[in-house]
Amino acid sequence: MIEVEQLRKQYGDFTAVHDVSFNARAGEIFGLLGPNGAGKTTTIGCISSLLAPTSGRIRVMGHDVVSDGVAARRSIGVVPQEIALYDDLSAHENLAYWGGAQGLRGSKLHDRIREVLELTGLVDRAKEPIKQFSGGMKRRLNFACGIVHEPKVLLLDEPTVGVDPQSRVRLLELVREQARAGTCVLYTTHYMEEAESLCDRLGIIDHGNLIAQGTLKELRSMLGERDVLRLTGAFHPDRVREALASVDGVEIIHADEALLSLAMSDASHRLPLIFGALNGAEVRGTTLTQPSLESLFIKLTGTDLRE
Ligand SMILES: Nc1ncnc2c1ncn2[C@@H]1O[C@H](COP(=O)(O)OP(=O)(O)OP(=O)(O)O)[C@@H](O)[C@H]1O
Ligand SMILES: [Mg+2]
Repeated sequence: MIEVEQLRKQYGDFTAVHDVSFNARAGEIFGLLGPNGAGKTTTIGCISSLLAPTSGRIRVMGHDVVSDGVAARRSIGVVPQEIALYDDLSAHENLAYWGGAQGLRGSKLHDRIREVLELTGLVDRAKEPIKQFSGGMKRRLNFACGIVHEPKVLLLDEPTVGVDPQSRVRLLELVREQARAGTCVLYTTHYMEEAESLCDRLGIIDHGNLIAQGTLKELRSMLGERDVLRLTGAFHPDRVREALASVDGVEIIHADEALLSLAMSDASHRLPLIFGALNGAEVRGTTLTQPSLESLFIKLTGTDLRE
């Protein structure tokens, strides 16, 4: 649905996006994770044809965004990082404006406005000027304006910035619903936790370079770090060592009468094997820690995402 090939964007001599390539499919949430100034908004701007790429090629639903921009834009919905709403208009009027700009008319426009107001929980406040809205409500309306015309490709540029935790949960659920309905979602964020919990696949972008991409699992395995499984209970350390010697790729980090600490890759799938080998031991507690995206980011870029 979105095909980006060797995208480069320069502002004068400065290269904001460096030969970036990725694809995102229908029903998928593809995340672009990177710190301030990484090139996320620039990439989204080129896909939505707000910005002209310096070189490279972008297709949306098979349409080249430069040579066939009108057709490409028809399938795109954008939720911009900077809120793009008219403060003196009501939520209803803002939606009517954006829906109209996307070609919706009459009862179809009316029905869709009602639907998205309901989806975003703004029905009760639909008639008042939005300058009376809180930041979180404006974010929700900004999102509603991006989906009012039911786009097949949705570009979301940090849509949860400045939103309280409750509204954030609700917004993320709305994003998931869009993907479940078959929309291809491109989601930019600098929140590690959002990327981890929301995105099916991820690209990590830093200084305009896409330095890694894949599923969360693929990215984690790039780390070469293993999961850590901690078991509490009552154990015979010698028997445990003997039993686990037969399980491939499991390293015992620590073993005493009350605690076992094991390192291995893909621990969640190997739990049955471990428990099988520990046959007879009394396990009271289990904690599984997976390597985080945060540690991957630090490994790839040498810096913390929040710096
Ligand atoms: N119009 C412009 N002229 C010159 N440089 C620009 C322009 N727009 C963006 N840049 C630069 O391009 C780089 C990428 O900016 P971009 O807005 O794409 O980053 P971002 O990843 O969206 O960051 P943020 O998380 O802060 O939104 C930055 O160094 C920025 O200063
Ligand atoms: Mg940005």
